[in-house]
Amino acid sequence: MRADAPVLQSSMSTDSLHIGPVPVPPDLSSPDAADFLDVVELGNLVQRGVWGSDDFRRDGRQEHAAFRSNPYEERLILAAQRDGRIVGRAIIDLPLTDNLSACYLDLSVHPEARSEGVGGALYAEAERYVRSRGRSTVMAWSEVSLTADGRAPGAPGRGEDLVPASGAGSFPSGDPAARMALSRGFDLAQVDRCSVLDLGSGRNAAADAFAAAQAAAGPDYEVLRWEGHCPDDRLDQYARLRQAMSTDAPLGDLDLDEEDWDGARVREAENRLERGGGRSLVAAVLHRPTGELAGHTVLERYEAAPAVANQEDTLVLRAHRGHRLGMLLKAANLLALRSAWPGVERIYTWNAEENAFMLAVNVELGFVPAGWVAGWQKRLGPSAV
Ligand SMILES: CC(C)(COP(=O)(O)OP(=O)(O)OC[C@H]1O[C@@H](n2cnc3c(N)ncnc32)[C@H](O)[C@@H]1OP(=O)(O)O)[C@@H](O)C(=O)NCCC(=O)NCCS
Repeated sequence: MRADAPVLQSSMSTDSLHIGPVPVPPDLSSPDAADFLDVVELGNLVQRGVWGSDDFRRDGRQEHAAFRSNPYEERLILAAQRDGRIVGRAIIDLPLTDNLSACYLDLSVHPEARSEGVGGALYAEAERYVRSRGRSTVMAWSEVSLTADGRAPGAPGRGEDLVPASGAGSFPSGDPAARMALSRGFDLAQVDRCSVLDLGSGRNAAADAFAAAQAAAGPDYEVLRWEGHCPDDRLDQYARLRQAMSTDAPLGDLDLDEEDWDGARVREAENRLERGGGRSLVAAVLHRPTGELAGHTVLERYEAAPAVANQEDTLVLRAHRGHRLGMLLKAANLLALRSAWPGVERIYTWNAEENAFMLAVNVELGFVPAGWVAGWQKRLGPSAV
């Protein structure tokens, strides 16, 4: 850890564990970058442990772009260090222009250092910090992948599952992150399904689905596409779609407010993605009679995992639902991906288990379940940790 970084003594009774912030270095070649890069690699190790692959690998460049301060979000890295080695990390995100009482937390502990109090000590420090920043709601997400026999650890019928208030989906109660979240006062606010499309088997489905959706949507709707940067003349409309996306997808019990988007925020996000070695592929649908965009979908890809693309936003504005536009957009973007990014072999997508429409579209396109994501939420009371 950097010698001049403020090191906080953890609340642990053992004398060897230190918890303190890791600064984001000015650039990755600076001498300060070593701890930051160790924190990045710890995240990769933990992801590999969950998913059994490097499909969600992030490199230093990507994380450097993600962690640099921007006008919309502030991020703090806390690292737990034992005997000169980083054994755990907590990433705390504070939204700065909306959701001002919320914060998002991500905890990871090295597999060889688990069940020794590292996660608990990191959590205590993180909660102390977010309280000091005046945030009153903490949200966190934890993941489980499908077991080798094709059954989710939390598959219904095992009698040991946690079910969110919506009744949609479930999550294994014995999972360490679930146990930890419950014991720290979090509720299970939502369950998302992570699905994967193997492009070797899904390409034909997109072509047929696009033709059928186009016929259903009719001549009032036209698909527009761009890679990287939204055309200037569509920027304000696209920002409105991005804003609507923040609350139009089902949120379960997560206490999220609509985000505040404008053209400048779209450009900042596009530039940050590029600085991190990422690219985006966007399909939007134009409603010809009004000249307005009616919906959009986004695929993203990073140099750190070139065989993988991630499905990000998909939105159709309420006034335009019921015309197969969700399928039109997704199928159009899958077809565009074939020529734009021929090296991509798999696409991942995440959907709330209560989002029956979007899940049905994805299943039709050939996506199959890969795992589940629990959304946890804690409203901080007045008491200390
Ligand atoms: C969840 C995780 C951070 C816990 O880290 P840890 O250092 O093992 O945690 P601790 O030893 O401090 O234990 C904290 C709590 O975790 C739970 N826990 C720890 N080990 C466990 C195990 N083997 N089985 C079940 N629960 C366990 C307990 O609830 C424990 O609370 P307690 O100390 O009051 O009994 C760690 O397992 C991890 O990194 N998992 C993968 C990433 C992840 O899911 N992160 C959460 C996303 S926000």
